[in-house]
Amino acid sequence: AYRVYLYGMQQIIDETVVFVKKELAGAEGGHDWWHIYRVWQQAKHIAAKEAVDPLVVELGALLHDIADSKFHNGDENIGPAKAVAFLQNLAVSPEIIAHVENIIRHISFKGGNHEKVFYSTELGVVQDADRLDAIGAIGIARAFNYGGFTNRSLYDPAVVPNLEMTKEAYKNSTAPTITHFYEKLLLLKDRMNTATGKELAAERHAFMEIFLDRFYKEWEGVI
Ligand code: ADP
Ligand code: NI
Repeated sequence: AYRVYLYGMQQIIDETVVFVKKELAGAEGGHDWWHIYRVWQQAKHIAAKEAVDPLVVELGALLHDIADSKFHNGDENIGPAKAVAFLQNLAVSPEIIAHVENIIRHISFKGGNHEKVFYSTELGVVQDADRLDAIGAIGIARAFNYGGFTNRSLYDPAVVPNLEMTKEAYKNSTAPTITHFYEKLLLLKDRMNTATGKELAAERHAFMEIFLDRFYKEWEGVI
């Protein structure tokens, strides 16, 4: 089967970049255009070794965080609806739009209590790229940026990370940013989908362990 696009693939991508930059103007530093840019680049890199539709991967990466529900009173439909309307305007095929919508709806880390109702290799690639941006040097920077944005302390030696805490309880708590490493960041390397993603995550994970080790030592003036 062949498809007729009003726009060629490159034009669709270019238009999408313009749209996403506009939608994310003024976004918090961890979720701004540059987060999208990094996920997009990483997704293309991971996709090179996978059998995937490159247009779906690129659109999924570019559109995955427009209208994050965290910043829209928990409404999880705004982002997907905006993306679908935008792609329909570009006359992208209905199958591709449906696939991209599924990626946007299912990309988020939801801990253990979320059943996987959709999976595709394209989703796996974009999810790996998004998770990689939450770990390593960039992940550390984003965590402390987000922590500052929500008024969390860096660390409090009196607060022992409670690993049984649910994600919801954690979000609503004032736990220090260091707790976020135990609640999420250090768990991500075991949740990667692709071989490339696993390899990159292992490296970034090792860097976070070095960071934490030094952090605690510097806290006590040991080094
Ligand atoms: P995603 O971009 O995958 O949707 P989130 O929206 O959960 O991820 O988080 C965005 C960024 O903010 C990530 O780098 C994440 O680690 C960080 N972050 C989220 N919640 C917290 C928190 N409570 N404390 C510190 N950093 C956080
Ligand atoms: Ni993201």
